[in-house]
Formats: sequence, structure tokens, C-alpha cells
Amino acid sequence: MTVRTATIETTDLVYTAEVAERTAAVFEKVAPAISAEEWPDFAPYIDEIIRLKQERNAIILAHNYQTRDIYHCVSDIVGDSLALAQKAMDVEADVIVMAGVHFMAETTKLMNPGKTVLIPDPKAGCSLADSITGEDVRNLRKKYPGVPIVTYVNTSVEVKAESDICCTSANAKKIVESLGVDRVLLIPDRFLAANVAAETEVEILTWEGECEVHERFTAQQVTQLRKAHPGVTVLAHPECPPEVVRESDFSGSTAAMINFVVDKKPAEVALITECSMGDNIAAHNPDTKFIRSCNLCPHMQRINLMNICDSLRHMTHEVTIDPELAEPARRAVQRMLDAS
Ligand code: 13P
Ligand code: SF4
Repeated sequence: MTVRTATIETTDLVYTAEVAERTAAVFEKVAPAISAEEWPDFAPYIDEIIRLKQERNAIILAHNYQTRDIYHCVSDIVGDSLALAQKAMDVEADVIVMAGVHFMAETTKLMNPGKTVLIPDPKAGCSLADSITGEDVRNLRKKYPGVPIVTYVNTSVEVKAESDICCTSANAKKIVESLGVDRVLLIPDRFLAANVAAETEVEILTWEGECEVHERFTAQQVTQLRKAHPGVTVLAHPECPPEVVRESDFSGSTAAMINFVVDKKPAEVALITECSMGDNIAAHNPDTKFIRSCNLCPHMQRINLMNICDSLRHMTHEVTIDPELAEPARRAVQRMLDAS
């Protein structure tokens, strides 16, 4: 057994017999998702991250869109945005690394402020979060006095702080209806808003935000998929345009899509969402054939084993929240969790 020190640089990590031995159990667990040929590229980082997690008393929260190596090999908790926000509150470790995008790290810090929350790349943003500012929300409130503001969690703390309640793709309809009013502002995703509007009597006003990954899917793509793969089950994320959701068999959050595959075991499935999710669940759902029809989120892809390793080693990049915004933003997220 070799004795390892924390001075070794991330770029120096190499695959050795000792690394192979220490990571054998992890490899066995993920073997269907990662091949033996690929393992030597991943294993040195996985080995070092596991060691650093112990040293730092850290855990890794990972969104369902993270790549196979992160999702299966180093994360402690995986899930959709709702599950990550809920589970963040119960974390007892000192340090939480968010393998996801910046708004997810901010939500983690909001809901568990005593912990050190790190994001391996602070540039991991989100086109929805970038589409709206706190000032925009203040202007909406002036324009629509008395109309409650339901804000998607894919937003900055500043925007959450101006909102009445948050929602995720898993609970948007439920949250809108929980308010018991005839009209709400559901911001900033115009497609999520349109998809909720199609399912509720509540009048929905929205904003012009879009997810740059999901807005690219078209109804024609789904029609073509169905022609090429007769009988295929099509699952679409609610950030897709409404015509795509209408053409699909089921629409739900990333976790709801995974649960659909696990429970219903469709013979062939097309996940109309970010690519990595199919890779993450394909290996453990051998009865289902996955048709690849997806786009990559450039922000989610910024997180990798190397920067997770650096993040734990150098305790970078720490997420902090303006104390004046923390309380109102936390209240909006907490209201959502209470209503869920
Ligand atoms: P979920 O909450 O469904 O995981 O979605 C988050 C997201 O960013 C989808 O693009
Ligand atoms: Fe944001 Fe879309 Fe990426 Fe999700 S997939 S993080 S909504 S840009």
C-alpha cells in the first residue's frame, strides 16, 4: 500500500497498480456504464477525489446531467433540482461540492448556510438564470400588482429574493395551483410556463427566458424519431417548447423521466433532454434501448473530475451569498419545499 500525500498535482495523477486496486470496488459497481478500456483515464481522479472527500469531510451533490464518471463514481447524492435542494438541507458533512450549475450551488448554500459550498467551475451558469435580473422582477411586480410571482429555481439568489415562491420542473403545476389564485407570474422560462398553462385553469403570465439546450428541440424531430423507431416512447423535459411536449408520451423533471424508465421499462425510449442523462441510466436499464436524440448543456459540461479534484484540494470556488438577499431568497425556496 502506498502512502499518498496532498502535495501531488492533479495533472500528475496516473493509473498505477495501487490506483487500480483501490478503485476496484468502484469499477465493479459502474462496470456497465464505464468500460475497462476507459477506466485508466478516470480511475486516478476518482481515487484522489475519494481520498480528498475523506480528508475534507466533504460530500458531492450531482445533478442528473453530470457525466457518467461523476454521476456513478464520485457523487454521494444525485437527483433533479428539487431533490438536490431538499437533500442539501440534511447534509452533515462540513463541505458540499456541487457537481452542477451555479444556481444549484447557490440553492445549496441558501438551504444549508453553515456549510462550505464549493463549485468546481463558477462559470457553470444557465441561460435561464441569465435571462432575468432582480430589477426585472421588481418591474414585473409594479406592472402586475398583487399577482404572485412563482420563480423557477434556475435563477440567481437576487431573483429568488424578489419572488414569492420558487418551483422546479417537478412541482411547477402544483406550486401554481397551491396559491389559490386565478393568475400567477411563472418566470423566467416561457416554455415551462406554456407547458404548465396547458395543464391548469390558472392564468399564467411569464417572461421571455429559454433553456438554450431544450429550446432547440422541435416537434418535427419527434415525428421523425417516431417514423424511424415505430413504438418508441418519447419523454420530454418541460423546458422543451410546448409542441415538443405535446408530441411526447410523458413530460417531467429529470428525476421523473428516470423513474418512468425504471418503472415502466419501455422497450425503446428517446429522452428529449440533455444527453448525459441517457448515458447515466442506460447501463442499469438493460431492458430498454435508448435512442440518442439529445443536446449537451455547455454549463453542466464545465464540471469534470479534474476540476472537482482541484476544488477539493484548494477549497475553490466557495459560494457566498449576500446576507441581505439570503433571507428572502431562502423563504421563497422554503415555501416551495413546504408546498411540495
Ligand atoms: P430538473 O430539475 O428537471 O433536474 O432540471 C434542471 C435543469 O436544469 C434542466 O435543464
Ligand atoms: Fe440551464 Fe438548460 Fe443547462 Fe439546465 S440544461 S442548466 S436549464 S442551460
